[in-house]
Amino acid sequence: MCGIVGIIGKNIKTTEIFDKLEKLQYRGYDSAGICIEKDNKFYVHKETGIIDNLRKECPNLFGDVIIGHTRWATHGKVNKTNAHPILSANGCWAVVHNGIIENFAELKDKFASKDELITETDTEIVANILEKGKGKEDLQNFIFTCEQLKGSFALCVMKKGSKSLFIAKKKKPLYVQSIGNKTTIASDPICFEKGEYFKMEDGEYAVANFDNVRFFDCKGRLVSKQALKCFELVSQISKNGFEHFMLKEITETPQKIRGLCKHYQTIDWSFLKRWWINKVKLIGCGSAYHSCLVGAYYFRKHLNIDAEALPASEFLSDNAILDSSTLCVFVSQSGETADTISALKKALKKTKKIISITNVDYSTLASLSPIVLPICAGVEIAVASTKAYTCQIVSLYMLVMALKSKMRNAVRNVLNLSKRLDRFSLDVSKLAEAIKDQKNIFYIGRNLDYITALEGALKLKEISYINCNAYPAGELKHGVLALIQKDVPVIVLVSNKRLVQKTLNSAFEAKSRGAKLFLFHSQPLEKIDLNKFDGGFMLPNVNNDLTCIFETVALQLLAYNVSVMRGLDPDKPRNLAKSVTVE
Ligand code: F6R
Repeated sequence: MCGIVGIIGKNIKTTEIFDKLEKLQYRGYDSAGICIEKDNKFYVHKETGIIDNLRKECPNLFGDVIIGHTRWATHGKVNKTNAHPILSANGCWAVVHNGIIENFAELKDKFASKDELITETDTEIVANILEKGKGKEDLQNFIFTCEQLKGSFALCVMKKGSKSLFIAKKKKPLYVQSIGNKTTIASDPICFEKGEYFKMEDGEYAVANFDNVRFFDCKGRLVSKQALKCFELVSQISKNGFEHFMLKEITETPQKIRGLCKHYQTIDWSFLKRWWINKVKLIGCGSAYHSCLVGAYYFRKHLNIDAEALPASEFLSDNAILDSSTLCVFVSQSGETADTISALKKALKKTKKIISITNVDYSTLASLSPIVLPICAGVEIAVASTKAYTCQIVSLYMLVMALKSKMRNAVRNVLNLSKRLDRFSLDVSKLAEAIKDQKNIFYIGRNLDYITALEGALKLKEISYINCNAYPAGELKHGVLALIQKDVPVIVLVSNKRLVQKTLNSAFEAKSRGAKLFLFHSQPLEKIDLNKFDGGFMLPNVNNDLTCIFETVALQLLAYNVSVMRGLDPDKPRNLAKSVTVE
């Protein structure tokens, strides 16, 4: 993962690069570092942990060329030595890198002696190959170096005294913006000012100087590039008075769903009518996989079609049986998840009926997909996906309804959902207090509620570090009950009238073994003895397809509250990053 930034201009302050790195922290925050050039000297500062640690420790400096990095460790421990920027042995080259150099061991044998390498990273060899290319022109040397690398990379490189930044990428995102006498390079255009910017392509190279940025092909020939427009204002990614991005983003859900609904009414769905589809595979990772499970349910229910959801990594490991009539739907908030991208490439070999649902229209996934549907969730900063997840579900619902030629019904249902969400508030603090010190928490539900249980459990485990697991309610008696001991919390989800009694029976079996039951229901439970529950919440019921959104938001709020009560930062859970760009 990792986020990289480079700036070249007059008197750039370190605070500017820290602000940009902060916007990239969703890509990893194991350590951070900068290298700034002033009066022909490199000043390098690195700290472990979040950018704020670096901001506190690093003196206020300014210079003309600066690069910065926020790391999600892949090679080498989390420490200052392995933090980027990484310098070459003679200290003349400084490199920030996102990606994995797969052949770094081989390259080390070829290009460096053991005592020249001091880090455990795969990046250090890049700096040292550059250092070895003494006779060559800088650009030629840079191209030669990149050509040695197998794997993936986005690189931003400084050479002492050159007053230039050298950049290139392969399979990792990298963008460039040149305004006036300043050029900024970043892993994500959210670092840019409003205006035009360029997207680097694999095999392209760029050199940024004070007055311009030039793009080259692999032979070093100048190429001209089409500029793109900055899509979203940076102001959108402030916390807007909320304590955390996660809470702000949960609160934005109804507004984003409305925007999505409006946009989907403008889409020309006629392409779907031309497709003969025999089955559907929905593929994603983590929360996006859970939204695929919901999507598969919609396909089966409304179109009576064989639909299956798969985690992208499993789709890759398995002998996926696809043909040209199979519709493959890829779901990814970031559009940069490596497993999902590889799965898309695998599917493309068999079918052209491919739709990607993503929040980032300039992402790799979007660029490879024949059809792209936006999630319309806006920038999501908190690592745990909230509004993007719920918008993914609404996208899938509207896609299925478009295939069923029931768009008007879908619009009515989604708008009704968003209105009810506007008025929806839930105080889950007592429940959060009751479960915050537990070691194990169980979530149960049937059918769609089981999928929501999976997502609720993932959300809580990733930001509270409590072991939470979701089970189909009917599966408890097949082994899981062995884990139910006195006072273990079981969160019970009931939204489907037809399944109320069966789910409650399973819950009471857990209660008989000492569990504490907490109920989230959207069905009236007149005949049920609510005294058997240790807590409960009645949620609005919109319809069988979309009520799961209320449950999801309720469980997101629960996870958020538990995380905060445990003194954690829900926006930046440990060992995670927003964009998982390694397979
Ligand atoms: C969970 C979460 C992750 C992502 C997963 C896929 O809250 O955020 O599980 O859902 O890493 O990411 P995208 O959707 O960007 O492909």
